[in-house]
Amino acid sequence: MKLIDGKAISAQIKAEIAQEVAEIKAAGGKTPHLVAVLVGTDGGSETYVANKVRTCEEVGFKSTLIRYDNDITEEELLACVDKLNKDSDVDGFIVQLPLPKHISEDKIIEAIDYRKDVDGFHPVNVGRMSLGMPCFLSATPSGIVELLKRYEIETSGKHCVVLGRSNIVGKPVASLLMQKGYPGDCTVTVCHSRTKNIKEICLEADIIIAALGVPEFLKGDMVKEGAVVIDVGTTRVPNAERKSGFKLTGDVAFDEVAPKCSYITPVPGGVGPMTIVSLMKNTLLAGKKAIYK
Ligand code: GUN
Repeated sequence: MKLIDGKAISAQIKAEIAQEVAEIKAAGGKTPHLVAVLVGTDGGSETYVANKVRTCEEVGFKSTLIRYDNDITEEELLACVDKLNKDSDVDGFIVQLPLPKHISEDKIIEAIDYRKDVDGFHPVNVGRMSLGMPCFLSATPSGIVELLKRYEIETSGKHCVVLGRSNIVGKPVASLLMQKGYPGDCTVTVCHSRTKNIKEICLEADIIIAALGVPEFLKGDMVKEGAVVIDVGTTRVPNAERKSGFKLTGDVAFDEVAPKCSYITPVPGGVGPMTIVSLMKNTLLAGKKAIYK
């Protein structure tokens, strides 16, 4: 069994990005600028956004954090999006999700100029991705695909079972892995809460991508010998022994599953660290106007 070290790979990619940014700056080019918009004070979102801003510093990007209180209206947030769309110094921006219930996330995402949508959530980017066209890929699917690439994991003709059908992980990763080429050419099955015989389907999988958000859902007796298991779960399970008061728990019962795998990602330190570098990669592409002029 080989552990897929997302922390090490993400450090490597950050160094590659930092190198390229240094070269751009040395040649007198524009420093890529990412703006993060954070509404409210949700603990998870605070941490994620702080990490994004810190990683920008590490790779040499300019970053700006815009904060709003929970009671911001949808109109006010749309006005902020409009301003960022028009600001030529801003190469890319994200509006951290989830948003308060009185604001439509779909409306906000659709209002973002797709050429600055470094989250890859805009319907234009999602549509282009499913057509196999150049686009901003969303962070988690992009991170998963990058891990498969860097570990040279064979995907062609493999049966890939995706657990979960969310718009930000399950659907896009299924779409990417069925594309022509590498990493792709998989036969993909998507399982979800209404799927019958999940265990039998998982037992047929060469690659399992667990993205349901159910802690330790995938058990040892659901995985065939030699499978590749990618764990996208990041549930905060209360744990009194931890200083933080919780333990980040994946969707895979790691101790049971790992001995059967050829490759497996740990939680934390697997897919998680890759998502931020995916955002950095998109910001670099946005800064270079590499996808959209
Ligand atoms: N909330 C959880 N993950 C993400 C992400 O990748 N982007 C944004 N904008 N919000 C999130």
